[in-house]
Amino acid sequence: MVTYTLHNGNTMPALGLGTYRMKTVEELRPVINQAIRSGYRLIDSATVYKNEAAIGSVLKDIFADPSFGIQRQDVFITSKLSPQHQGYEKCYQAVLDSLERFGLDYLDLYLIHWPGTSKTKLSDPVNQQNRMASYRALEQLYKEGKIRHIGVSNYTTAHLQHLLDHCTVIPHIHQFELHPCLYQPSLLQLCNQHQIQIQAYSSLGEGKLIDGTVCIDGLKDIAAAHHTSEPTVLLRWALQHQWAIIPKSTSPQRVQNNAMVWNLNLSSQEMEQLDQVHQSQSYRFCWDPSDIY
Ligand SMILES: NC(=O)c1ccc[n+]([C@@H]2O[C@H](COP(=O)([O-])OP(=O)(O)OC[C@H]3O[C@@H](n4cnc5c(N)ncnc54)[C@H](OP(=O)(O)O)[C@@H]3O)[C@@H](O)[C@H]2O)c1
Repeated sequence: MVTYTLHNGNTMPALGLGTYRMKTVEELRPVINQAIRSGYRLIDSATVYKNEAAIGSVLKDIFADPSFGIQRQDVFITSKLSPQHQGYEKCYQAVLDSLERFGLDYLDLYLIHWPGTSKTKLSDPVNQQNRMASYRALEQLYKEGKIRHIGVSNYTTAHLQHLLDHCTVIPHIHQFELHPCLYQPSLLQLCNQHQIQIQAYSSLGEGKLIDGTVCIDGLKDIAAAHHTSEPTVLLRWALQHQWAIIPKSTSPQRVQNNAMVWNLNLSSQEMEQLDQVHQSQSYRFCWDPSDIY
């Protein structure tokens, strides 16, 4: 399993499993079991996904089953702060509540899911105050060892620069939408400058980059040239940029297929071609944080 080294010297798995829209133990068990057997060592959850307890229950069974051969310390577990729980006290309590739902003593990563606060106007400066207070709570929980790494998600360059100007712990990870149709050089550069590990989400455009909804120019030809699939090329493109990935699938077979990314090597010309796609085909599939103060 390939890992990346974070700025505190710890490592994180490059490949993880996304779990958005999978809520029940019945849905999650076959997928997580297959993911672990295929070499995934990171599970991405969030309070708003309402699946922390179900994931905790599936993992408990995996740790108790010797055929998997893994324990708690072998899996990197992420959750995220709901925009409803922004602010110091609410965030601190939200992390304790997440731990209880998972049935765990610590989480490997906790992210501020979104720079805004629920039921608050996008332009209201209180968004900035609240997310900074939430981050202070994460810094405290990090120092207490309840969360091993802290970070943010969906921050723009402006949100991240403000955080960097005021934090005492530089975020370890920034998770944001990232694929050839949404490539943000200034945000990538800011993360790299501060050794913030980038974790891409919606690498497959929520499926729309591979089901024919959006056909990326040249993607089919690159996949054919390597005798591989289009999803594999999209995932490999991210990994060759040293970004972590968290593809999601409800199908154990596709979970396994998405782990077959290690044998493919895209040429520098193919990488460059995919890097340029956003200039002619620009799409965002998930939420847009640009207007949040
Ligand atoms: N921080 C945030 O705000 C945020 C936002 C969005 C997502 N995320 C995280 O990132 C994860 C991944 O993003 P995502 O769920 O938006 O989308 P994604 O991983 O880009 O795409 C998932 C979709 O692609 C399909 N798919 C997956 N592998 C496939 C394959 N090999 N062949 C064909 N179809 C395939 C899946 O369908 P099937 O299920 O039918 O296979 C599913 O509909 C999420 O689950 C979540 O953990 C975070």
